Amino acid sequence: MALLECKSVSKDFGGITALKSVDLIIGANEILGLIGPNGAGKTTLFDVICGLYRPDSGGILLNGRSIVGLRPHQITQMGVARTFQSVRPLLSQTVFDNVLAGSLFGRGDYLHTAKAAEHRTEEILEWIGLEAKKNTRVKNLPIEHRKLVELGRALAANPVLLLLDEPMASLNPAEITRFIEMVRKMRDGGVSVVVVEHVMKAVMNMSDRIAVLHHGEKIADGPPQEVSRDRKVIEVYLGEQYGVS
Ligand SMILES: Nc1ncnc2c1ncn2[C@@H]1O[C@H](COP(=O)(O)OP(=O)(O)OP(=O)(O)O)[C@@H](O)[C@H]1O
Ligand SMILES: [Mg+2]
Repeated sequence: MALLECKSVSKDFGGITALKSVDLIIGANEILGLIGPNGAGKTTLFDVICGLYRPDSGGILLNGRSIVGLRPHQITQMGVARTFQSVRPLLSQTVFDNVLAGSLFGRGDYLHTAKAAEHRTEEILEWIGLEAKKNTRVKNLPIEHRKLVELGRALAANPVLLLLDEPMASLNPAEITRFIEMVRKMRDGGVSVVVVEHVMKAVMNMSDRIAVLHHGEKIADGPPQEVSRDRKVIEVYLGEQYGVS
């Protein structure tokens, strides 16, 4: 069974069609790359999955159960966590407290004791490589570290599905390599991951499958090698120069 299923999901913003009858399946233990030109509807799709906006029509099922109409915190508690394209950490709080906030509002019983949540936070800080910065206020961190804090906060929620919105935009090549390793480890640990990204080489390389949105419609969905050779995808987004390495 699909972990998450979007069935004919549509969303308009005052006459602008952001999503038009989008069907999308996210399987268990899968990395799905979600790509497409600016304004294609990628972030909006995350927003409707997370309950920030209600779709105008269509269904969204998590493990077979409809989540349309649930509040964002309820959807988080069911195991869907995300990061934002423009990062939104708690700037005046420390790195530790930002990640801790994720574990306190996430999925799972261990969250009910402060000790367990703190322990989980320590584990995650080690994983994202920010233990040494745990007492630093986030406002004093560079953007790439703020992105890691957001990732840590999402991971602390103990998700079954993680939605990452342009996580690699400000990372250097070494950080991108490390990031890809981290996402693969998450997948191997049982988390499904959807990555919205314009860094093509990275997203093609890391994804098990790629879905392409254009003007709110899904125009391709398949293995990276296949999608990167799709005429329509090349025409509207990738250009002729692109080739999967
Ligand atoms: N809150 C909103 N109010 C009005 N229009 C919106 C809103 N959010 C998104 N849109 C519009 O919906 C369309 C899809 O936007 P969206 O942000 O989902 O695109 P995207 O694929 O994430 O683009 P990018 O790659 O630039 O991040 C765009 O035309 C955008 O202007
Ligand atoms: Mg976006």
